[in-house]
Amino acid sequence: MQDVIRIYPDPEMTVSACAAFIVRKIGEILETNEFVTIGLSGGSSPNMLFMLLAKEYREEVSWNRVKFFWVDERCVAPDDQESNFGTAKKLFLDPLKIRDENIFRIFGENEPSAEVERYSQLLEKELASEIRFDICLLGVGTDGHTASIFPPDIKLMESKKFVVNSVNPNTGQNRITITGRLINNCRTVIFLAYGKEKKDVLDGILNHKKREHYPAGLVFNARFGVFWYLDSAAYRLP
Ligand code: 6PG
Repeated sequence: MQDVIRIYPDPEMTVSACAAFIVRKIGEILETNEFVTIGLSGGSSPNMLFMLLAKEYREEVSWNRVKFFWVDERCVAPDDQESNFGTAKKLFLDPLKIRDENIFRIFGENEPSAEVERYSQLLEKELASEIRFDICLLGVGTDGHTASIFPPDIKLMESKKFVVNSVNPNTGQNRITITGRLINNCRTVIFLAYGKEKKDVLDGILNHKKREHYPAGLVFNARFGVFWYLDSAAYRLP
């Protein structure tokens, strides 16, 4: 199974449906597991999702049984406006009063190679037997990057490592990112994307026009397929 494409009329309905799906998945997993592990993406797309989860699902989810990780981080301090963790903290983690012991951020302020080592070891410790997130929330850039795997480094989708240092080729900004080895081992993989600026790249990926040229196009999930939560401005079925 490859793609489960779910399209909604606008960003708000897309985010609302994505939130409900994530909450349902958390509930399913907590029926058999003590904790749920979630890998969060950065960028702007998740912001509406973070605010909705914090506002509408405060009581519906046992948030103290959810462990939060990141799929990538900009190499900046946590209080920098560029920080993926900093944004999630403001919009979601603080409003829901998520306990520090459930938050496993990437230390963007650390020297990159040292942080790659630290986060790799943390993932091996926290994810124990199988290095995977129960839920992996991804975005897609207009160039087809996902996490911080950009097209020039598309080989990172095949990396033997779980975590590497990458660079945003457009800005030169250092990043820490998980690789395809971890992304494609996750239990449930969700893309959230909306807006007309994503139309071309999603056409390229989902209508199989040179899908393999995009890192996001190399995300797959043998278990359930990859779930795409998209609005109609970003994607129309062919
Ligand atoms: C990051 C993200 C990145 C993001 C895409 C889409 O750190 O920037 O993890 O992979 O998902 O760049 O970003 P937007 O949601 O802002 O379009």
